[in-house]
This record gives sequence, C-alpha cells and structure tokens, in this order.
Amino acid sequence: MANLAVFASGSGSNFQALAESVIPSDHSVCCLICDNGEALALQRASLLGIPSYHILYDGRPREEAEKEILSLLADCSADLVALAGFMKILSPRFINQFPGTIINIHPSLLPKYPGTRGIEASFHSGDRKLGITIHEIDAGVDTGPIIMQKSFLKHDNETIESVEKRIHTLEHASYPVVIMELLDKIDSKS
Ligand code: GRF
Repeated sequence: MANLAVFASGSGSNFQALAESVIPSDHSVCCLICDNGEALALQRASLLGIPSYHILYDGRPREEAEKEILSLLADCSADLVALAGFMKILSPRFINQFPGTIINIHPSLLPKYPGTRGIEASFHSGDRKLGITIHEIDAGVDTGPIIMQKSFLKHDNETIESVEKRIHTLEHASYPVVIMELLDKIDSKS
C-alpha cells in the first residue's frame, strides 16, 4: 500500500478523479492540502471521507505554511504528492525536504504555455494540436521531467468552453493512470 497526498486550490475535479481511482485500490489518499478555504475541493474531500487541511498562506512567510504541510505529510506517511490545480509555488526547500516525488498536471503541451492561463494561451495560440502534460516538478514553474502528454486536434470554430471540457476529460482519464502506476511502483519497492 502507498499513500497519496493531493494539493488543490479550486474545483478539485482532478482530485476527485484521483480519489475515485485510489479509494477502491490497495492504496490510499491520505490527505488533501488546500490553500483556499472556499475551494470546492474541500467539500469533495469531506464527501469522500478524505482528511483535508486548509493551510493559511496569507500573513506569514511561505516557509511557515510549507513547514505545516511537511509535518502533515509526515503524519500521514505520504509517499507521493499529486498537485491538482494547486495555485501556490512550492519552494526548492520544500521540494528537497519532501522525501517522495511531486507530480503536476498542466492543461497544455509543455513547454508551451506554462503558467496559470494554460488553456486560454493554448486556445488563442492558433495551434491545432492541444493537450495536457503530466510531469515531475522541479524548482521552476511547470517545468520538470515529462511523464505523459496527451493531445487532440482543435476543431474549426471550436469554442474555448468546448476545448476546456475536452482538456478536463483528458485530464480525468490520464492523471489517475499515471498516479496509480507510480503508487504501484512505490508499493513494489517497499
Ligand atoms: C486543471 O486544468 C489542471 O491542469 C490545472 O488546474 C486545473 C485544476 O482543475 N493545473 P480542477 O481543480 O482539478 O478541477
């Protein structure tokens, strides 16, 4: 058995997709870390029976928030972290101190269109080929070794709403596959 911690800031649809794959397996989602007290992700966690923690970032140094997170991860023996729409940048110190791997999902074909507006930037780029990237994180923003990319072709006259829906469908199908494989790998080594 291996333990997954998920970090999210908003809707948490990827968190939900991950939880729905992990819960019936031998592995466990040990916690949801959230920096936004209003996030729908927190309600999803409570409905799924997953412990969730609202971590305050405002009004104190990032290091203090990260120290609190590291201690929660240690308490629940997290082996792997999946970022799922987490809007805070993790410091190099945090990345070095967490003993496991940290994975991120991004709604564009990296290295194209990193940052918070990946869907809008891809949509308005004129590129026909759009998609998603799942990657290990490093100290940069949306950089780090790529594990998987999935793409599709934008239709003529397709709206941004339709593209966004297709991206999310791809994310919800792909992220659990990658994360389950990593959890299995961690489990087989322990
Ligand atoms: C996803 O599009 C993900 O790629 C990006 O943030 C979004 C989070 O959506 N990093 P949700 O909160 O999982 O619904």
